[in-house]
Amino acid sequence: MNFSKHAPLKGEITIPGDKSISHRSIMFGSIAKGTTEITGFLKGADCLSTIDCFDRMGVEILEDEDRILVRGNGLRGLKAPSTVLDCGNSGTTTRLISGILAAQDFDVTLTGDSSIQKRPMKRIMDPLSQMGADITSIPGNGCAPLRICGRPLHGISYHSPVASAQVKSAILLAGLYADGETRVTEDCLSRDHTERMLGHFGADVQSIAKEDHPSMTTAVIRPADQLYGCPVNVPGDISSAAFFIAAALLVPRSELLIKNVGTNPTRAGILTVCRAMGGDITLLNEDNASGEPTADLLIRHSSLRGTQIGGAIIPTLIDELPMLAAMACFAEGTTVIRDAAELKVKESDRIGVMVQNLKAMGADVTETADGMIIQGGRPLHGAVIDSKLDHRIAMTFAVASLCAEGETTILGSQCVEISYPDFYKDLARLTR
Ligand code: S3P
Repeated sequence: MNFSKHAPLKGEITIPGDKSISHRSIMFGSIAKGTTEITGFLKGADCLSTIDCFDRMGVEILEDEDRILVRGNGLRGLKAPSTVLDCGNSGTTTRLISGILAAQDFDVTLTGDSSIQKRPMKRIMDPLSQMGADITSIPGNGCAPLRICGRPLHGISYHSPVASAQVKSAILLAGLYADGETRVTEDCLSRDHTERMLGHFGADVQSIAKEDHPSMTTAVIRPADQLYGCPVNVPGDISSAAFFIAAALLVPRSELLIKNVGTNPTRAGILTVCRAMGGDITLLNEDNASGEPTADLLIRHSSLRGTQIGGAIIPTLIDELPMLAAMACFAEGTTVIRDAAELKVKESDRIGVMVQNLKAMGADVTETADGMIIQGGRPLHGAVIDSKLDHRIAMTFAVASLCAEGETTILGSQCVEISYPDFYKDLARLTR
């Protein structure tokens, strides 16, 4: 697909539902008793993989135009699937479902696409094994396919070596079935959707910040007898909004209203960084109606300056770093991204892939062990971009091309179906 310079972004947009929250609504609804009605659900390929997995375990999931109904089987009601469970491209599906499967009274094989089969699963295999799980990597390299044989589990106290909501959530979900309390400590708090939503489903879960070290947080869960279905209203995904925030800040004369975006502080680091870069962002209609903060974001074109991005803010904007790196190319001065080695084990090696593609467009960018250094202010030109079938890379370069001279071709551009099937349509509408 080809992209080039465009008119300002004007008007308003409602972003599709949050991917992390959509996954969790299906998973928790499936192991709850009663019906969970989900509105704002993201019908992207990743979340459809989650639906498919629970459908294969006997959960009735009904889809119509604007809502999903999950008729939950209860905490101990999942059925042995008759096939391998295929998580597609979705790390969230693979890791979170593993925590549930570890405690069932049946055995399963979990797999996914070629990207999933390269992503590290030892990070969940280790703590789940400590809880008594029988989980093995079939190829023996710590990656999927995984064989999970259900076992009785016991509670553990785990200090996670990575700030990862997927790791934390896998352990907390296993903790629902354990014989005692389970604690997961992170040095820097990762997204807390699991803790928030499990509470709504009736689980006894708490988040405790360490007094003398506020970013260090321990999530504590007690075993549950049952979870109870409840309504879930999924807000717009700030990780998808990120591309429109960037586009409106970068393209001169833009003014864009992005409606109903999730602004949970464990996800909203992009707003802090964009403001530090000089971005004009106003939050309107702030709300907290469904247990997740939301706001409308009014974005106006701004002249940006370079900044430093590192430390405890990193988990709160981990998926937005590709877009922030591209924005930094258009900002005056130097931007340094550090403490972000996790980017290397996302859907692609997002440090290597960003550096290679930004250089192809003429950017001055240097790869480091845990991030990159970008000297902004050099004009970019069109290039052939290899997305490596990573949805966030494809969307990042579609936005970068709006401010580059000449034409950009994005290879594998259809991968946006993972998190934002209508992305190109929405971008075209706003720049018409
Ligand atoms: C997610 C957590 C993050 C994020 C991913 C979704 C989640 O991964 O990058 O896109 O839904 O829990 P990590 O937990 O591995 O950081």
